[in-house]
Amino acid sequence: MIIRISDDAAALACGADPVAAAFEKAGATIERVSSWGMHWLEPLVEIDGHGFGPTTAADVPAILQGRADALSIGLIADHPFIASQRRLTFARAGRTRPLSLDDYAATGGWKGLERAHAIGAEAVLDAVTASGLRGRGGAGFPAGIKWRTVANTPADRRYIVCNADEGDSGTFADRMLMEGDPFCLIEGMAIAAHAAGAGSGYIYVRSEYPHAIAKLTAAIEASRAIVAPFVLHVREGAGAYVCGEETSLLNSVEGKRGEVRAKPPLPAIEGLFGKPTIVNNVLTLAAVPFILAEGATAYVDHGVGRSRGTMPIQLAGNIRHAGLYETAFGVTLGELVNDIGGGTASGRPIKAVQVGGPLGAYIPPSAFHLPFDYEAFAGADALIGHGGIVVFDDSADMLAQARFAMDFCAVESCGKCTPCRLGAVRGRETLDRIRSGGRLADVVEALPQMHNATAAGRVRADEVALLTDLCETMQYGSLCALGGFTPYPVMSALRHWPEDFGLPAVEDAGQ
Ligand code: NAI
Ligand code: SF4
Repeated sequence: MIIRISDDAAALACGADPVAAAFEKAGATIERVSSWGMHWLEPLVEIDGHGFGPTTAADVPAILQGRADALSIGLIADHPFIASQRRLTFARAGRTRPLSLDDYAATGGWKGLERAHAIGAEAVLDAVTASGLRGRGGAGFPAGIKWRTVANTPADRRYIVCNADEGDSGTFADRMLMEGDPFCLIEGMAIAAHAAGAGSGYIYVRSEYPHAIAKLTAAIEASRAIVAPFVLHVREGAGAYVCGEETSLLNSVEGKRGEVRAKPPLPAIEGLFGKPTIVNNVLTLAAVPFILAEGATAYVDHGVGRSRGTMPIQLAGNIRHAGLYETAFGVTLGELVNDIGGGTASGRPIKAVQVGGPLGAYIPPSAFHLPFDYEAFAGADALIGHGGIVVFDDSADMLAQARFAMDFCAVESCGKCTPCRLGAVRGRETLDRIRSGGRLADVVEALPQMHNATAAGRVRADEVALLTDLCETMQYGSLCALGGFTPYPVMSALRHWPEDFGLPAVEDAGQ
């Protein structure tokens, strides 16, 4: 009997190792596989396709003796959370051993690279363009155009750089892919190198991901001959959020301080060491093997409008069914959070979801009809970002969340430009004044004879006007997305939940 248990960091954090050890002690054969992405069920144990979870070492005898019905979820592949997905990038999740070249080849691995070599660089650029693939790191820039720019820029050297500095709150898809299917990322980078004429590449991984770094290092070694003459290196970040911004990341890879460079020149023209460089997120590069192996049409057929293909969406925060949900663009927020995610883990009503990381907008339930689509989100003053959704229940204090955004920006700012460096600090102070203005209003209400309620309200309104003005300056005056996007969570919190700022509530909190 083979027992399959994930060795993904999330499974390990939930106690997968002691469960695996208990099965081994009982004489069972263990296979450590990637995670299916059903995090609320980890450690998930799989026997002949049937799942049991979440388990502890104490459950092992009952599972082995067939007495663990209470833990059984039936056939994992038939579970609604898995069966309703369209897994193109995460097709191997839960199904293969991450570092097994045999498992990788047996599940279609290297087929895309072989085809890329067979059809030639120009046809690869055409295929990636025709697939409609856009940057999955957040900005959604068409990958085919970026790749062609690099390929067409005259240079003696070109580079492929993978942005694996996954810093957004509630996101873990890059980590899961690197830990669970590292050869897929390597294959995607090798295809990009072939298309652009690059000899080497770098994967910039955040230091908080030691398991991913270990898996990638081993996988690069194991596949060295397969991707040759392309050579790959792993570079470990040092913990700065701004190093997820591509030019800052390039500085960091070069061994410099992680400070943002002004654009232009674009990295596609002058990137790493001044050479044309493709900088793409893990999920962008990992989507490429499928596109080459199955053809651009198989990818572009999914999705809506200009958002083509699938998006690995990460459900996190106060949500019952947290995990990785890959689906075609067009699914609504309500479907994701309520139908698939099962509502809040606390059982209380949802107050807000934040989509796109710490700098993404807060969205109220009245806007849950919003489809997952780059343009629809942009039209609602929101962003898809890296596909992370963090759920908050009705106990959330949105002024505190707005303050967190300003504080995050103040702490993580690289300091290069004034709207971000000073603006975030002033924003935090302004929110603190709005907070204390709220307390003043409470006092005034209790002592009506003071007759200064109007004055307190005016103080707060003045501070809100100042905050709004400051956000506008940060949005339009910052050099990069860190300062430029901080206004999204702040202004969306203020717009939809003014009562948390001591202002009159809006009747319809819709977008
Ligand atoms: P951007 O809009 O400046 O650029 C997008 C990409 O397209 C860049 O790689 C840029 O170099 C490239 N590009 C633009 N015009 C081009 C052209 N004509 N030819 C070739 N390439 C071209 O966006 P930026 O500042 O790189 O990224 C902002 C995004 O990053 C945000 O949407 C945010 O959601 C996301 N983000 C993601 C994080 C994560 O953890 N994944 C963390 C922080 C932000
Ligand atoms: Fe640096 Fe902030 Fe300016 Fe970006 S917006 S360049 S992080 S100071």
